[in-house]
Amino acid sequence: MDRYAVIGHPIGHSKSPTIHRAFAAATGQTLSYEAIEAPLGAGQFAATVERFRAGGGRGVNVTLPFKLDACAYATDLAESARCAGAANALKFEGTRCLAENFDGSGLVRDLSHNLGQPLAGRTVLLLGAGGASRGAILPLLRAQPAQLWVLNRNAAKAEALVREFVALGADAAVLHGGGFEALAQPQRFAQSFDLVLNATSASLSAEALPLPAHAFKPEGLAYDMVYGKGLTPFLRQAQQAGVRQLADGVGMLVEQAAEAFAWWRGVRPETSALIQRLSVPLN
Ligand code: ATR
Repeated sequence: MDRYAVIGHPIGHSKSPTIHRAFAAATGQTLSYEAIEAPLGAGQFAATVERFRAGGGRGVNVTLPFKLDACAYATDLAESARCAGAANALKFEGTRCLAENFDGSGLVRDLSHNLGQPLAGRTVLLLGAGGASRGAILPLLRAQPAQLWVLNRNAAKAEALVREFVALGADAAVLHGGGFEALAQPQRFAQSFDLVLNATSASLSAEALPLPAHAFKPEGLAYDMVYGKGLTPFLRQAQQAGVRQLADGVGMLVEQAAEAFAWWRGVRPETSALIQRLSVPLN
């Protein structure tokens, strides 16, 4: 039987086995999918992958803290992994190891297909300049927003990230970076944003962000990339600002898994029932 797995540390909380087994059952694919905790420490991720390959592994998903190690381990990086500097899916073909990063494309698919918020021509505010934000920028730009602002607590980090993407060919008239304080200068910015996406890790520690109510549009969408945390401080801020459509990262989680499944198996699973099953109330 073809073997797949998710590798991380810790891994007990991972929903990937549930998701991929459900996809396999729904598409009639015969495969096994397990969760593997790799030890922390130099070389441990690569050693764990090597063992899995030797045992017949065909591909893995990669989660924290190994997404950079996955990029370093692979022999062939897709553009998504190269630009993100991180990979969340590997496929083994003979001696080669292909790397992809489906987080950003999963996010865009969730926004456009599941949440009815296509990005073309819209204004988008992306909060954070860490790994999650880096992985989202290229797929978001591909969806052709009118404006994509990347704002971060540490402004220099967001500016550097934006410069990097502009150097790679992103349109400097569309992509902008800065600090959260820039939102207090509405003359410099679009007054409010159609989509406000939280890619910071602040929700993991239940911290609020310094966002003025005017950053949000009531008819727009507020999206927190974390999953399973209910109404996070960020989503509460959006709700208080009058935003009617709130979402967490459950759809992104299932959609990135579907992308990986399709990449490995050549069959794209249906996602909506599973997203519904895994959703937790936002209150
Ligand atoms: P990830 O891979 O989840 O993006 P990361 O690379 O460590 O994690 O990045 C964390 C992001 O969350 C950063 O943008 C960080 O802001 P700084 O660069 O200014 O540190 C942001 N972040 C974390 N906690 C935050 C908080 N309490 N308020 C605002 N931003 C926060």
